[in-house]
Amino acid sequence: MIISEDRPTVLSAPAFVDRERYSDDARSVLEALDARIASVIADVQTLRGWRLIFDANGTNEQVLAFIREVMLTVVQYQSDTTEASMHWLGRLPKTEHRLMRSLVNHKAEEAEHGLWAARDFIALGGAPEALVRPATPSTYAVAAMWWRMAHCEPPLGYLGAEYLFENLTARLCEPLLPTLEARRLPLDRLGFLVEHATEDIKHTNLIAHHVLDVATRYPESGDMMLRCFDLFRHVYPMPIWSEAMDRVLG
Ligand SMILES: [Fe+2]
Ligand SMILES: [Fe+2]
Repeated sequence: MIISEDRPTVLSAPAFVDRERYSDDARSVLEALDARIASVIADVQTLRGWRLIFDANGTNEQVLAFIREVMLTVVQYQSDTTEASMHWLGRLPKTEHRLMRSLVNHKAEEAEHGLWAARDFIALGGAPEALVRPATPSTYAVAAMWWRMAHCEPPLGYLGAEYLFENLTARLCEPLLPTLEARRLPLDRLGFLVEHATEDIKHTNLIAHHVLDVATRYPESGDMMLRCFDLFRHVYPMPIWSEAMDRVLG
């Protein structure tokens, strides 16, 4: 598999951020979300599994085992986060049918990604029976948090939680992919990561646009988004990625 050479670039300041139709307060909401993402990235950089990827002493075998176990986490929460999202988005104000369609379309695109993760898990040597094991406590908590938010948090808050999902992957894939290539790892068995490096930049731009638009039209929604980001961050990604690493190193 070849990494696309025309990967879209963004992240910190997509051109549309400066459009006049967005309010200053909405731009502040996006800045606050980006600051939180930076803080999550700092947390991730303390993870044994993450450090090992960039450490010359980390073996390729350990790196692949860590990625394999992270793929298993995706398998364990992805169906729930997809199904809960559909419920959450169904609660949007019914005047917001265009927003609903855009976000449901995006989530439908994501629906298959648990299958990509299962495919890579097996390709990386995971045991097929592990795919049907009950969720671990930490992946169970991701699913539980998403369902609880879907039932109880304001629908516009969805954008904050989704921003953590999309922007974190996009940001982490930036340094990750060149390192995996430099290690000469088999990218054809890492399709989930390779595809997300491009896809989640596009998805981040989509969600960032909606954050700005919604926070402009509903000034009260900024706090809802930040709260849902913080709720989701409590269970993702640190607990599940540490647990994945523990399965590799004990
Ligand atoms: Fe995805
Ligand atoms: Fe995505």
